Amino acid sequence: MLAEIDAKERAALESITALTDAAALEAWKSKWIGPQGALRDFMAALKSVSKDEKPAVGARLNQCKGTLEAAYESRKLTLGATVSGPQIDVTEPAVELPQGCRHVIARTIEEIVDVFSRMGFAIADGPELEDEWHNFNALNIPADHPARGPADNFYLGGEAAGKLLLRTQTSTVQIRAMESQKPPLKVIAIGRVYRPDTHDATHYSMFHQVEGLYIDRGVSMVDLKTTLVQFAKVFFGPEAEVRMRPSFFPFTEPSAELDMKMKIKGEWKWVELGGCGMVDPNVLTAVGIDPEEWTGFAFGLGIERIAMRKYGITDIRLLFENDARFLRQFA
Ligand code: DAH
Repeated sequence: MLAEIDAKERAALESITALTDAAALEAWKSKWIGPQGALRDFMAALKSVSKDEKPAVGARLNQCKGTLEAAYESRKLTLGATVSGPQIDVTEPAVELPQGCRHVIARTIEEIVDVFSRMGFAIADGPELEDEWHNFNALNIPADHPARGPADNFYLGGEAAGKLLLRTQTSTVQIRAMESQKPPLKVIAIGRVYRPDTHDATHYSMFHQVEGLYIDRGVSMVDLKTTLVQFAKVFFGPEAEVRMRPSFFPFTEPSAELDMKMKIKGEWKWVELGGCGMVDPNVLTAVGIDPEEWTGFAFGLGIERIAMRKYGITDIRLLFENDARFLRQFA
């Protein structure tokens, strides 16, 4: 046991010289001479030492205790450990607070608004809860059109006359803009639209569209294409292209399906983004604009489509499940 005490004492004295601050010195104290320290263990073990050896071991332990306490006191002085209480190191880097980030759809919207604003488009707005006039009638969608059915729309309050519904398209805002402003008119509208689709990787009951409308004298299909090509090149890069395929929408004549060529994982691919065309004279007439004097183009693009293709997101549900680990990737 004597040899053991010698060894411990040596170890304690050796380690104390390496200490550099008051906290470490306090830790040393409790390790060796504190109430739960190593010396205490020896004291406890003294009971089991034989009667003959006890006096010598006891004396040695007391001596060791004295030595270590003296070492503690002198080290305390040399460390200049006179300050008590918590000490603050002002040079430590601050604790980082968790930061939020913009949602990938919000960011995409900002970027789209930025591009069209620079092309002279103002922002128009309309309600998500709409009437049939703005969602259908004024857009030249006949009363018996299948797209008006309850399976394709979120109607409120059953099917009574003068029903309200969650808008299925931002084309409603074209009507609202033309009702409230006189041409020439150059606006985009961005917002949520709702359709009773079953959720899967490419369908969701709510998504976002960007709608464009330009009404002036002598606006032609060339202006439409130029505008969309400009947008595509700024948004997706100078190699981006735009393709129109003949199609049909009640509110445009002629109408086209709109594809843009964008870079997906390093490869340029055609992606279907929405529809466009020349505003149908019936639509202009419905809002009191003379189609003999004014012409215009319109387009509507799916924002989730744009964002998903741009960022390589393959499941639309990820955009709305609010898993911060997923969303943070696009910050
Ligand atoms: N509203 C159409 C839709 O949701 C998209 C669209 C097509 C908008 C042609 C337009 C347009 O403005 O001219 O499918």
